[in-house]
Amino acid sequence: MKKTWFKELSVYQIWPRSFCDGNGDGIGDLKGVLGKLDYIKSLGVDAIWFSPLYVSPQKDYGYDIADYRNINPEYGTMDDFKAVLDGAHERGMKVIMDLVVNHTSDQHEWFKKSAAKDPKYKDYYIWRPGRGKDGKKFPNNWMSTFPGNAWEWNEERGEYYLHLFAVEQPDLNHDNPAVREEVKSVMRFWLDMGVDGFREDVITYISKREGLPDGFPLPIMRGMEHYSPGPNIHKYLLEYRQVVKDYDAFQLGEAPMMTPKNALKYIREGKDQQLDMMFQFQHMEADCFMTSYLRTKFNLRKLKKVYRNWQHKMYGVAWNTNYLENHDQPRVISRYGSEKYRTESGKALATLYTFMSGTHFVYQGQEIGMLDYPFKDWSDFVDVATFCAKGIMEKTHLFSKKKIFENCAYAARDNARTCMQWSAEANGGFTTGTPWFHVNPNYKDINVAAEESDPGSLLNYYRKVIALRKEYKDAAIYGRYVEKMASSKKIFAYDKIAEDGGVLTVVINMTDREVPAARAAKCVPEGAEHILGNYGGSMAAVLKPYEAHVYYKAPAK
Ligand code: NOJ
Repeated sequence: MKKTWFKELSVYQIWPRSFCDGNGDGIGDLKGVLGKLDYIKSLGVDAIWFSPLYVSPQKDYGYDIADYRNINPEYGTMDDFKAVLDGAHERGMKVIMDLVVNHTSDQHEWFKKSAAKDPKYKDYYIWRPGRGKDGKKFPNNWMSTFPGNAWEWNEERGEYYLHLFAVEQPDLNHDNPAVREEVKSVMRFWLDMGVDGFREDVITYISKREGLPDGFPLPIMRGMEHYSPGPNIHKYLLEYRQVVKDYDAFQLGEAPMMTPKNALKYIREGKDQQLDMMFQFQHMEADCFMTSYLRTKFNLRKLKKVYRNWQHKMYGVAWNTNYLENHDQPRVISRYGSEKYRTESGKALATLYTFMSGTHFVYQGQEIGMLDYPFKDWSDFVDVATFCAKGIMEKTHLFSKKKIFENCAYAARDNARTCMQWSAEANGGFTTGTPWFHVNPNYKDINVAAEESDPGSLLNYYRKVIALRKEYKDAAIYGRYVEKMASSKKIFAYDKIAEDGGVLTVVINMTDREVPAARAAKCVPEGAEHILGNYGGSMAAVLKPYEAHVYYKAPAK
């Protein structure tokens, strides 16, 4: 197993709009981040990933970029960014930027010039005439991820443009070498400034099949077989890889619908490797069918199967990422854990994923166990994706109005985007002004300040697991995964075995009931030392709800 600095990172993700407001305008910003760098460092993490900070009309909250080389004025200035970058580096933390190049905003200069048929820019996007007699029929039958058809008519140009996400997010034409040069130049701009890597948004979508043929008639994501992936994906990614190679930076590709077999085509270590690691989604489907809008009961065996698959198939040849939350996922305690046993299940989940092999990610608020928001009305939501999902469900006539609302409240990305809960003060200490979005009313109990002062808090537990992951890194980060009690619907147990023979054993009761511990106890090697537990001591005769343990057995001398 090749050891590399980026494999060992624990990364803290910041979704800037809701992290911390430093100037009282109700919107999170870089001044706010600067004031929290010591807090972030105190978690023991080694890096920060920023969701997009760039100039953007915020139709998709920053994932619609109008200027890749400037900071969104709501978040501050380039000098503010440089102060955060320096501040992070001074504290020994890397900084990872979001690179969103499948699409731009329709307010980007490139798009405006492309619509006006400026010769330099006319082929920067994917334009097509309409079909049919009047030329007004869509160029093909593809659908966008934010459902609806994937084409929008542009009056000025007199043609349709492709958008695989919102109408305001036109897809760039990576088949145009000039566009690829622009992407490389944007990458160099940030790398020259000193950033340490990129998280590359839906990067597996950037190549589209020539001729843009009609897709298989699916009710959602129609056409995806022609771009996920497209024919030139590996070629384009290898070009982008060359840029990063000059800087010892790393690349993490977001990859919807990715399987281990296909992932290896991108991340297998060696000369054709295009990305260092990927964000896959399969482990986020243990409580749903394909999308969290189609909710099912949490299924532990489904979750185990995904971990087993990825841990085994990447071992020794490629590298995983480990995350349970991000800005697109509802809060994990509300999904895979229990709000009733918030602290216990939060700790169980932290234990479950931190000791898997892979680069480790923690999303803002996850470390204090923030929960989903109690949505009451449609006017409580702001995310384009939520309203698209509503529209699609209405069209199917399969769900009652009430059910559609419940599905959205459960699955909405809005859940991840409520304001960070810093203290029991007004607005959870997020802002002195009027917050741009909800603060969960539970902020008086669930907040950083309260958890700082409680040695038994989830926050302090996160600090422990992050530290242990490093202390036992040969097993935790690089060890071989061996699952125990694979068929159990209640217990999640596994070993991580280091090359020197050291064994780290994780045992968790993933239910809200007591479970006899006898079988679980047999998973622990004789003579192993108890290094972590979420109820205090070592395992007794019964495992309490969400009880979790970690043991370590040193190699024989
Ligand atoms: C994935 C991002 O994580 C999500 O927030 C965004 O809406 C889409 N890509 C489109 O950029």
